[in-house]
Amino acid sequence: MNKRYILLLGLALYSFIYTLDSNQSYADDQPIAFSHKLHADQNGIACQYCHLYARRSFSSGVPPVSTCIGCHGPLEQKIVKPDSPEVNKMREYWAKEEPIPWVKIHDIADFVRFPHKAHINAKSDRLLDNAGSGCDIENNPRSLECKLSHFKVGGDQRCQACHGNISQMEVVKKVDNNFGKMGWCMECHLQVKGAKERKRSGSTLDGWFNAKEMNEKREVSIKLVNEKGHHNPNMLDCYTCHY
Ligand code: HEC
Ligand code: HEC
Ligand code: HEC
Ligand code: HEC
Ligand code: HEC
Repeated sequence: MNKRYILLLGLALYSFIYTLDSNQSYADDQPIAFSHKLHADQNGIACQYCHLYARRSFSSGVPPVSTCIGCHGPLEQKIVKPDSPEVNKMREYWAKEEPIPWVKIHDIADFVRFPHKAHINAKSDRLLDNAGSGCDIENNPRSLECKLSHFKVGGDQRCQACHGNISQMEVVKKVDNNFGKMGWCMECHLQVKGAKERKRSGSTLDGWFNAKEMNEKREVSIKLVNEKGHHNPNMLDCYTCHY
């Protein structure tokens, strides 16, 4: 075989392996096979029992090992699932006083400000009255309408607006391909289809000016100006999301 073929073969192999690698879901790399379906759905544990910072801070955070220990017990005093090798991995981390190195799935650019607390504590009447109507949960659960309707319910159901139905996942994955992109945020902040304008014009700024214009009318209806006459942060202003 001449050198060129070997090189080509090498390249082909490399790109094949690369494809395999980039297709691999992050979730397979989690250090422990932790199932949301088992905990949140089958055992009815509330999201915010474990993610208790969601309503208090910017980050929801993953629970510390002590939360797991509270139910499963340490090596010396195993309680729930004493013989599970997966749970024992968690007990080992506790014994070593090390955090579990969970792989982060949802991540947005560092120049963007995303406060969980503002979203978890937002009053549902901040959305347009008809927001969320026409949600077809069977056929299109990730439509804007369905996201808005989950958001309106509030509580743990609100998580579903952005993260999908985590309680049915063995392994957490992103449900929206455009998760955390500017249009993804704007779509909801506009509370109407206006954000789609950005895609059509192919320009963030055109879309924004269009949205801004439409927003003037909306400001009143979505109570962007509060009882005291103070202007609430405009949902579309650059500095709302950018430092
Ligand atoms: C509120 C109680 C509670 C908390 C907190 C909790 N678990 Fe569990 N866990 C359970 C219950 C209940 C089961 C299911 C037991 C059964 O099916 O018999 C379970 C099952 C598991 C299993 C499956 C075990 C197997 O072999 O089938 C793993 C792994 C696990 N938990 C890991 C964790 C980790 C890691 C944490 C911390 C992030 C955690 N759990 C926090 C109650 C809890
Ligand atoms: C028993 C504790 C527990 C409960 C209850 C729980 N979670 Fe989690 N959650 C975890 C742990 C541990 C991780 C990190 C491991 C993983 O990704 O599976 C996590 C990860 C996540 C992630 C991904 C974080 C990332 O890296 O992007 C999201 C989103 C999430 N949980 C949302 C929810 C929602 C929504 C609910 C309620 C339906 C819920 N969780 C209930 C413990 C819990
Ligand atoms: C309005 C959309 C939205 C809602 C509602 C929402 N999240 Fe998130 N979540 C995000 C975004 C965006 C990120 C990525 C944040 C980052 O990288 O800074 C994220 C990240 C996370 C993470 C990874 C750790 C972290 O904080 O960065 C967890 C865990 C999580 N969310 C859990 C929850 C839970 C539980 C709820 C409901 C109580 C919830 N989220 C509601 C958008 C949302
Ligand atoms: C499913 C709907 C939804 C999505 C998606 C969403 N938001 Fe929001 N966001 C809201 C609502 C509603 C509020 C209003 C909270 C209130 O009542 O003040 C809000 C408020 C905010 C605020 C707080 C303004 C303040 O200071 O009070 C920031 C910052 C923000 N969002 C950033 C983002 C970013 C960045 C993203 C995308 C990564 C995003 N949001 C995605 C619904 C959403
Ligand atoms: C609702 C939140 C939100 C608002 C309001 C917002 N942005 Fe963004 N912006 C984002 C997010 C999230 C990203 C990250 C996108 C990514 O990672 O691809 C982003 C990315 C960007 C980028 C990087 C290039 C790109 O398109 O990915 C620029 C430039 C930018 N925004 C400018 C603006 C300007 C100018 C405004 C005001 C007209 C604005 N943004 C308002 C959320 C917002």
